[in-house]
Amino acid sequence: MISKKIQNAINNQINKEIYSAYLYLAISADATSKGLKGAGTWFQVQYQEETGHAMKFYKYLLEQGAEVELEAIAKPKIGFKSLLEMFEATIKHERFITKSINGLMDLAVAEKDYATQILLQWYVSEQVEEEANDNEIIGMLKMAGNSTGSLLMIDKQLGKRGTKS
Ligand code: FEO
Repeated sequence: MISKKIQNAINNQINKEIYSAYLYLAISADATSKGLKGAGTWFQVQYQEETGHAMKFYKYLLEQGAEVELEAIAKPKIGFKSLLEMFEATIKHERFITKSINGLMDLAVAEKDYATQILLQWYVSEQVEEEANDNEIIGMLKMAGNSTGSLLMIDKQLGKRGTKS
């Protein structure tokens, strides 16, 4: 049993996770159409992971006998000029999601909702991992600069990303 406040906050987070999936799907198409097939794959895997994040919350609400309320999804922005711009948009978005997860945790702590706190611990760790991955890629892209050869090598590397088991 969870409070209406927690239920609403989780429904709101489901919308943010689905928007994240939508955003990365849009970036995946943008990258692929620009000939960056590896990045296209990387963002498609990220799209799948975000869908998983939304579904984890969705299942939790149903397990708790709470109501799932799906809202409209905003249109994601595309048209990035470079791979670096794509990943800078990604880290900016992930920092926003981290803040949102932390806000949810603050609410669960204030409400003494222990079950939701346990669920959220997974998301807190996941955000650390996501931000670290993005920062690592941004670091490589900054080092590559305008070198086409290095950028193609990074793109090839990005294409090796597989889904988490
Ligand atoms: Fe679901 Fe990338 O945070």
